[in-house]
Amino acid sequence: MHVPTTQQTRLLVAAVCILVMVLVRQFGKQTVTGEPVAPAPGEAFRQRIVAVGDLHGDIHNAKKVFRMAGLIDKRDAWAAGSDIFVQTGDIVDRGGYAIDIYKMMQRLRGEAAAEGGKVVSVMGNHEFMNALSDWRYVTPLDIKQFGGSQQRREAMSIDGWLGQEWLANYSVTARVPMSPFPDAPTLSFTHGSLRPSFSNLTPYPDAINKLGHVLLTRAMTPPLAPPYPPNPYQGLPEGTTKDEQELYGGGGPLWARGLAEGPEDTVCKWAKEIKEKIGVRRIIGGHTPNFEHIVSRCDGQVIIIDTGISSAYGGVLSALEIIYTLTPVPDEDDDNNGHREDPLAPDQQAQSPMEVEPLLRQGGKYIEREEVYAIYEKHRQLLAREVQQIIL
Ligand SMILES: *[C@@H]1O[C@H](CO)[C@@H](O)[C@H](O)[C@H]1NC(C)=O
Repeated sequence: MHVPTTQQTRLLVAAVCILVMVLVRQFGKQTVTGEPVAPAPGEAFRQRIVAVGDLHGDIHNAKKVFRMAGLIDKRDAWAAGSDIFVQTGDIVDRGGYAIDIYKMMQRLRGEAAAEGGKVVSVMGNHEFMNALSDWRYVTPLDIKQFGGSQQRREAMSIDGWLGQEWLANYSVTARVPMSPFPDAPTLSFTHGSLRPSFSNLTPYPDAINKLGHVLLTRAMTPPLAPPYPPNPYQGLPEGTTKDEQELYGGGGPLWARGLAEGPEDTVCKWAKEIKEKIGVRRIIGGHTPNFEHIVSRCDGQVIIIDTGISSAYGGVLSALEIIYTLTPVPDEDDDNNGHREDPLAPDQQAQSPMEVEPLLRQGGKYIEREEVYAIYEKHRQLLAREVQQIIL
């Protein structure tokens, strides 16, 4: 038996310190993101969906929000595993750093995909305004960041990096299923408000997105309109159809505010009609800011997530979080054949839907639980909860 030397004691202390640091980091990480990515014990499937509203050129606050919602780590890398992240448009204008946000979104899209996650990007009216050379809300700093007016216009053309990114990876509206299983409940995300009477609401989301793609392509095809101001506004490009005019009009999905501003009973009636027509559980959008909190209407059927995150507005930092889980219900009459598969057998890490699927029994009973939270810097608030038994 020998007494530890000073050096051995130091080594031991160092090892314990490192262990404590690792544990604190691990623990800290889980409290920051709120939810571990893998299913909790008993759950067979878990999907987290995070949505963030208008960012208006403020990369600093954008990062704060993404970090607060557990989407990125300290080094700004994707930290949300197989989560789905939806941004509902208006990245550009008012602030000076839209270019940094677009580049970050582009990078996160790739990083998320590599981990079985997904970044979904929705176009705002301000993306379209810039594509149409409507520069009324562009700041001098933003132009400088792009390297000048000419470079900015080129970036936002069909051959430019941003124009191509918009055409390839952004859409006017997005339908996001909460799980990859048949008949999964879905969410709709649109910058402005959907309207039950909008001519091209169905087939959803393809009709809206086709119109958006065609109009965007035409707007960004040279010769580009000269920026307004100082030049006069040229309006929608030549050849724009009536349906495309309606898409970009005041009652279209890029500009409308009906679901945010209408009286409660009217909005609930619209929500019911829209949900029936397009078959989604919740209608989520930005565009109309409330500087204090995310607005949930009609029991969470309509959720408006623009809280004026950009310092150009000075609202609150916020994100919407939806946690969807499926938990198997043991059958009473299942006792005789006993051995139900353990949904969390250690060799079956539930990572991607492809790997999860075999864990779910065809015809099995599950508790489907969906919880919707507003996340802020200092607290989170439950906005809606839906729990029911389903058969898969
Ligand atoms: C769209 O996103 C994919 C996936 O991250 C990426 O590989 C591709 O380069 C993007 N397209 C454009 C044109 O930026």
